Amino acid sequence: MSEGHSTYSPKTGLGRWFDARMPLPRLVYDSFVAYPVPRNLNYMWTFGGILSIMLVSQIITGIVLAMHYVSDTSLAFGSVEKIMRDVNSGWLLRYMHSNGASFFFIAVYLHIFRGLYYGSYKAPRELLWVLGCIIYLLMMATGFMGYVLPWGQMSFWGATVITGFFTAIPLVGDWIQQLLLGGFAVDNPTLNRFFALHYLLPFMIAGVVVLHVWALHVTGQNNPTGIEVKSKTDTVAFTPYATIKDAFAMVVFLLVFAYFIFYMPNYLGHPDNYTVADPLKTPAHIVPEWYFLPFYAILRAVTFNIGPIDSKLGGVLAMFGAIAMLFILPWLDTSKVRSAVYRPWYKLFFWLFAANAIFLGWLGSKPAEGWYIPAMQISTLFYFAFFLVVLPVLGLIETPRRLPNSITEAVLEKNKAGSGHPAGAAAAPETKG
Ligand code: HEM
Repeated sequence: MSEGHSTYSPKTGLGRWFDARMPLPRLVYDSFVAYPVPRNLNYMWTFGGILSIMLVSQIITGIVLAMHYVSDTSLAFGSVEKIMRDVNSGWLLRYMHSNGASFFFIAVYLHIFRGLYYGSYKAPRELLWVLGCIIYLLMMATGFMGYVLPWGQMSFWGATVITGFFTAIPLVGDWIQQLLLGGFAVDNPTLNRFFALHYLLPFMIAGVVVLHVWALHVTGQNNPTGIEVKSKTDTVAFTPYATIKDAFAMVVFLLVFAYFIFYMPNYLGHPDNYTVADPLKTPAHIVPEWYFLPFYAILRAVTFNIGPIDSKLGGVLAMFGAIAMLFILPWLDTSKVRSAVYRPWYKLFFWLFAANAIFLGWLGSKPAEGWYIPAMQISTLFYFAFFLVVLPVLGLIETPRRLPNSITEAVLEKNKAGSGHPAGAAAAPETKG
């Protein structure tokens, strides 16, 4: 499903004049009005739009916060308190931004798991997927640096622990750590460069999102059946069908977001970050933000040396390896069928993988001691086995369920099997595209 030829025809003289010189309205019309989308998309396809809204919200609230924030170790903590107490609506801006980061990650995890379930990473959407992985990496870097800015205890010690892991890299490790810190410890130069980069990276994310959506408009969207669009009856026009559905999902998502902002604004944060950073007082238990916890568990799962690789380097390699798995995923899965709907064994392993990811997250919040250590190791092993063993092997041995001939057929079958409503063939509007 590609964009096809444009059906845009400007109605006014000014519109025609503009179109002949810079066809921006045409681009918007072709991409967001007439653009054909599969008619069977479910609510899991609304998170791309939700992510776009969250990115805009983070950028706007972030810019206003930056007008009041001071990136100096002796003033940063106080400037955030001033924002909370003295700046007009400063508390709202800050809670929108800090909870916004969490909700951005909630949306991105649902978006990624949707892709995993329906096989959206498979050809021809590999590049679209890899661009998504780059966005995810940039989001993690942005989140990590943003958390350092309020200069609380967790900001300081989290940054110390995480940048410390770079020293495990042979030869260049110390140099990378000093480059990140701007010295030998987390201090004023660190805070300044993290602030500069935290301001820059969201704009880079926005740039990669443009490429992501461009790639999406070349291949067209996948859908719950994983079957490509074959005829016009398989699609509906983006507006009004997808726009209304996206708008409804956004409102529901924003209501939950608002509930957190107004009723439990510190629920997802750590109380230690309301204590100013003290390099002489190590908190009893250093934990990163919740969205890093699965990777934090993987990092600490390697407690033994592997030949010449010591445990610290092993942990760092495992953590980066876990992210690398996502990048090479399109080439690991050998199945010809995309969607888990028609792959009974894959469906089972997908849910095991999702449960394991949540368990890893929970383990990440625990100290590396007692039975947590073997649990982290087994979960890490399953994480890698899913990508390196299950996906390549399952595609070769699994017998998928019978695929419908088309998206339309799948929709009609579902309708027939449903509540006895007449099959929706006649009711299904054709795309304008
Ligand atoms: C700022 C972050 C992101 C934004 C704004 C964004 C935006 C979008 C939008 C608007 C869509 C189309 C609507 C939809 O399918 O929900 C989409 C589709 C897609 N995105 Fe993202 N995305 C982001 C991050 C990611 C990440 C991190 C990944 C994967 C690692 C990813 C992978 C995909 C894939 C595979 C599709 C096609 C899905 C399909 O058609 O089945 N995206 N994205």
